Amino acid sequence: MRVLFVCLGNICRSPTAEGVLRHKLREAGLADQVEVASAGTGEWHIGKAPDKRSQRAALLRGYDLSAQRAQQVSSADFARYDLILAMDESNLRNLKALQPPQGKAELDLFLRRYEAAVDEVPDPYYDGEQGFEQVLDLIEYASDRLVIELKGRL
Ligand code: 4NP
Repeated sequence: MRVLFVCLGNICRSPTAEGVLRHKLREAGLADQVEVASAGTGEWHIGKAPDKRSQRAALLRGYDLSAQRAQQVSSADFARYDLILAMDESNLRNLKALQPPQGKAELDLFLRRYEAAVDEVPDPYYDGEQGFEQVLDLIEYASDRLVIELKGRL
């Protein structure tokens, strides 16, 4: 199974989801069976490490994002990944516009799929520290449920 998380810049929300899910898959003994990645719909941050604020908040909860580098999503990703999960409705719209007719990937809104308290992971880029904590809270909640789904599908 291959899972791709997508946000706008690939420096805050989707790299956090990548790090959290990878950690939870390791804990569940599924790290060898699921490939996890993240990408942005935008191109501005290609090649950059995650935002320092995201890295710091994640590390305090045990997730090391430092080796990850931003990349831009492409239509070829719909052939490579099984599940593409968007962080907000705008990301989902942009992904639908990129989606080729025969792509194998299932495309969904991450939080809505797992019935979290809200449908979108709010963009924390222009927020204070609290925004990054909220991003982690929502992503941890949905990732626990995603691991359960993946266990059932493997
Ligand atoms: P992300 O956050 O989509 O969660 O990575 C953002 C990062 C950068 C920008 C916007 C959102 N930006 O405008 O540069």
